[in-house]
Amino acid sequence: MKVLGADIGFGFTKATDGRQFQIFKTVVGDAPDVQFGESLTPAAAPFPRHFIIGGQASFVGELAEAQSRGRGFTLDQTQFLSQYAKTLAIAALAPFADDGEPIRCVTGLPISFFRKHREALMTLLQNRHTVTVVKPGGEREDKTLNIERVRVIPQPFGSMFNLMLNDLGKPASQRFITEKIGIVDIGFRTADYTISEKTRYLERGSQSSDAGIASAYQAIANVLHEKSGVSIELYRLYDAVSRGSIKIKGKRYDLTGIVQAALQQLALRISQEVNRLWADDWDIDVIVVTGGGGAALAPYLQPLLEGEVLPMPPDQDARLNNVHGYWKYGMHLWPAG
Ligand SMILES: Nc1ncnc2c1ncn2[C@@H]1O[C@H](COP(=O)(O)OP(=O)(O)OP(=O)(O)O)[C@@H](O)[C@H]1O
Ligand SMILES: [Mg+2]
Repeated sequence: MKVLGADIGFGFTKATDGRQFQIFKTVVGDAPDVQFGESLTPAAAPFPRHFIIGGQASFVGELAEAQSRGRGFTLDQTQFLSQYAKTLAIAALAPFADDGEPIRCVTGLPISFFRKHREALMTLLQNRHTVTVVKPGGEREDKTLNIERVRVIPQPFGSMFNLMLNDLGKPASQRFITEKIGIVDIGFRTADYTISEKTRYLERGSQSSDAGIASAYQAIANVLHEKSGVSIELYRLYDAVSRGSIKIKGKRYDLTGIVQAALQQLALRISQEVNRLWADDWDIDVIVVTGGGGAALAPYLQPLLEGEVLPMPPDQDARLNNVHGYWKYGMHLWPAG
């Protein structure tokens, strides 16, 4: 039996078995011609990005972004579930389980979709999925992903379980079990706010907002468009933002001021949403800021939030906080022996 965690975010899909992890952009696309397609995955790619499920060949992640003609992405959760979730989950989990091996999986949904879609997601995933994995070298492997149990939790709870539990799924820190914790999970498209009271989900203090990092990137792209005349796709801004400059048509633009202003403005918006949402929950003990966007915004956000903010370890990729927590929670639910 394998315990796996899978976090399908709007920006990135992440999965882990506790030892290894993988992360790819949340994009699914048609694999053009199966024969041709085989040569497209870089041979050095660590994990497969080409799958055939129910006769349908798909690329995922950067490969889909670069090579697929029809690329799908949607912010509509119902459509997301029916069209993409299964492919993304299979792609995410496939490297971590052997053919037919029983899998128990913890995954999450954004706050706004949690109540409405958790049953549907469970039903969708809890099954024996047959898939042909086209490996980076072109070799094919028919595999059955035998997902026998699925647990769906609100996405930000992953980060809470990551702080609360150790690798055996046992409590490592008492405070998360006994205290009232506010969690701010800032991703690419969305920011999710939630409260865990003695590990229980508090519906009242929970909400999704579209204040993801993409909105700051959009502001940066707008300024660059004014200056250079070029419209830059948001996903191409990450490197420029972390480098502090961008070269467009041979001319280098300094981004430090623009980035600071955009992040500052997004942090202000998030802090206003959070402080309003949690106005009655003044007894929150500690606030956790997580998600890949949370790491980028933390220095701006921390002074604006009303409460004690727990710093996240700076040496870890904050995009993985939820998925590591899902896996630990899986170890807690289904201890290995
Ligand atoms: N190496 C990296 N590459 C790209 N983005 C990164 C990287 N490291 C941190 N980030 C930040 O992480 C953000 C994505 O965070 P995360 O993976 O938590 O989002 P998500 O869960 O996919 O999105 P959502 O929560 O909206 O569904 C990016 O917008 C970027 O600001
Ligand atoms: Mg997320």
